[in-house]
Amino acid sequence: MIKKNKIHIGFFALTFIVMLSSCSSSSDSPGKEYMPDMYRSPAIEAYVDYGEIQGRENTEVKARISARQTPKYTIPYYGVNKKEVELMLPNKRKAGMTWRESHGLYGWDLDTESGYENARLDTINPLTMTAQNAKSILKEGERLYEAMCTHCHGEKGDGNGTMIQSGAYGDLGVVPAYKNLDTLSEGKIFYSIYYGKGYMGAHGSLLDKKEIWTLVHYVRQFQREGYGNFEEKDESDSKTTDSK
Ligand code: HEC
Repeated sequence: MIKKNKIHIGFFALTFIVMLSSCSSSSDSPGKEYMPDMYRSPAIEAYVDYGEIQGRENTEVKARISARQTPKYTIPYYGVNKKEVELMLPNKRKAGMTWRESHGLYGWDLDTESGYENARLDTINPLTMTAQNAKSILKEGERLYEAMCTHCHGEKGDGNGTMIQSGAYGDLGVVPAYKNLDTLSEGKIFYSIYYGKGYMGAHGSLLDKKEIWTLVHYVRQFQREGYGNFEEKDESDSKTTDSK
């Protein structure tokens, strides 16, 4: 009986000592931490390159974004509206291999040759503009454009965005005015927004295909007087004769 009590006392004393030993005299210190990794897990941000942290390089993860693409051939659910689903199906034109390095297209389906030249065959915007939807398409286009493009391309599409004006863009070259590209096919406009071009990054992971085709309409409106204005003329302005 006595022996058992002694064991109990010994056990409590030991626990007490262990507990006390984890205390610290500084009131700011949390004392001994048994599992610091659990209390302070590293905050991993999506889309951040963790290959180079404070001069230390990790070539295995360098130039790769942390948020990954979904597995290959995953088809997102876009509802049951057939037209909308068709619009959202994977892009049949692939970007060239060189885009991977310069435009961060890791894990994308790439081709050895650039599909840009072939993109002129996609001259027709599948998001057809009619007198009924023209206003809402251009309004949505404006919203997207102001959020993602104005800082480079400018409110008027003249290539003089706030980043150019402030000098933040640096001397990377000129952002073209849309007016000077008015022979560009809708397919190429789509392709360039989707995969990026020159110093313009790829927007394919930021915008869905419907949004990009909406922007194609919005870009056209800078290029062609009265584009999307169905009030005076009845015939669709969106039917274009693309040459380039
Ligand atoms: C970082 C600045 C920047 C942003 C942001 C940007 N662009 Fe561009 N854009 C450029 C530059 C630079 C070019 C010229 C690329 C070249 O021809 O080398 C360009 C070219 C284009 C072209 C012509 C493509 C071609 O095939 O000649 C279109 C159309 C275009 N941008 C639309 C957009 C739209 C729409 C957005 C918003 C979703 C956007 N851009 C966002 C800088 C930008």
